[in-house]
Amino acid sequence: MTCLSESSVISDTFGSMKSPKKQKPSVRLTWNGRCDQPDATAAVLNPWCEIHPSQVNKAIDNTPSRLILGDNLSIMTALLPELAGKIDLIYVDPPFLTGKTYAARIGRNEDSRRPSEWKTTKGYQDTWRDLGAYLDMLYPRLCLMHQLLAPTGTLYLHLDWHASAYARVLLDEIFGAERLLNEIVWVYHGPSPIRSAFNRKHDTILVYTKSRDNYFDADAVRVAYNPLTHKTFASSKKAGFGKIPDLKRGKVPEDWWYFPVVARLHKERTGYPTQKPEGLLKRIILASSKPGDLVADFFSGSGTTAVMADRLGRRWLACDQSQLAIQTTYRRMILEPLRQPIQLLVAEGLEPENELKIDASITREGSEAKIELLGLESLHPPEARAELMEIDWLYNGNLFRSMSYSALGWRKEGGLPVLSYTYPAAGSYPICIQVCDHLGRLGRLLRTIEI
Ligand SMILES: C[S@@+](CC[C@H](N)C(=O)[O-])C[C@H]1O[C@@H](n2cnc3c(N)ncnc32)[C@H](O)[C@@H]1O
Repeated sequence: MTCLSESSVISDTFGSMKSPKKQKPSVRLTWNGRCDQPDATAAVLNPWCEIHPSQVNKAIDNTPSRLILGDNLSIMTALLPELAGKIDLIYVDPPFLTGKTYAARIGRNEDSRRPSEWKTTKGYQDTWRDLGAYLDMLYPRLCLMHQLLAPTGTLYLHLDWHASAYARVLLDEIFGAERLLNEIVWVYHGPSPIRSAFNRKHDTILVYTKSRDNYFDADAVRVAYNPLTHKTFASSKKAGFGKIPDLKRGKVPEDWWYFPVVARLHKERTGYPTQKPEGLLKRIILASSKPGDLVADFFSGSGTTAVMADRLGRRWLACDQSQLAIQTTYRRMILEPLRQPIQLLVAEGLEPENELKIDASITREGSEAKIELLGLESLHPPEARAELMEIDWLYNGNLFRSMSYSALGWRKEGGLPVLSYTYPAAGSYPICIQVCDHLGRLGRLLRTIEI
């Protein structure tokens, strides 16, 4: 990352964020080569595809929820002019500094007890030259998230023991130490090879608010009291600390949460590595946003935040630099089913290549056209397996608008169904068929149909 002279950076982006009540940090983390004003060139974001719940081929008038392929540093920089101070909730789950490379599982019906036989592909990388290189990645992104947050907004930063201590010092500096709302500990269980220490089975989620006027809906996340608490209060009037809890209403959860990790047999499991549980995101979104609010995840992986935001009636924005992650999220949204328009955007230079050769039959009966996928070949190994087909029946030669679509469920076998469309009038119509395979690779086929 290059450091720029003061005059060449976007003003007020890094290191100079002023909030009226913010104290000058009394502690500041330094590392070799720390750069307070990194080069943050704004990406050019080009629409790649649009999808509309009513399957109508019309322009999306309200700002749609957005799924963006690219590096989040340049994407957040590009979003600043439009969204500075406007995002209500940001949840991010970046690489943890584990030093590992994660694979995504892409096989079907495999024996989970035989990892050596699993079919996998590249997931994402969490390897760094050293701690300084990791902090060079994290620091400018946290600064941008602070800028993007609304005055009542909240950031949830999900990490574990590898980097959470360093991140907390960075967040104290950026947000102000007094803006730490919670340090949430997510506990879970599962097998572990460790024999020389306790099993490491918790993550840390640092929660910071932009101001003291943060939105927090405790009632939306109340949980039932433990049956033992019910028993204690039923058996003795003197129980508790002088205050009788409203046992029916439930309690505000503690700052330690148990949710099972997304395991192989869970319905929500996509195969994308380190996918977080929907329940965890549901609690975060319900507590820190209202219906209609804008929720963002800039390290979105398989898209858990987007899926839960969508289900809970929030607008969302998700980005990732991996095409597999973006296609996994897109497929998850289609399988939901779709509730709001989505625009898929791509940072210029990262446009997906046409890597798949589509064989399809196009038939017509009166004004109804039907398309069946007959075969899919990949231009490079390995072999392709179709997982998602979409059709723009009125392709304008520019922006693909997904009018009919169908996707295979995560562990489902079989082919994709025939898709059909009834044209309102006779004419000659250009069609675009888009197919995605199990590796997130794309193919497009253009045809014209006479009605
Ligand atoms: C831990 S995973 C997120 C998992 C996600 N929370 C889920 O539930 O599936 C981290 C993601 O960050 C993405 N990522 C890492 N560096 C990035 C960057 N600079 N810009 C955009 N995405 C990035 C990786 O591709 C990976 O998908």
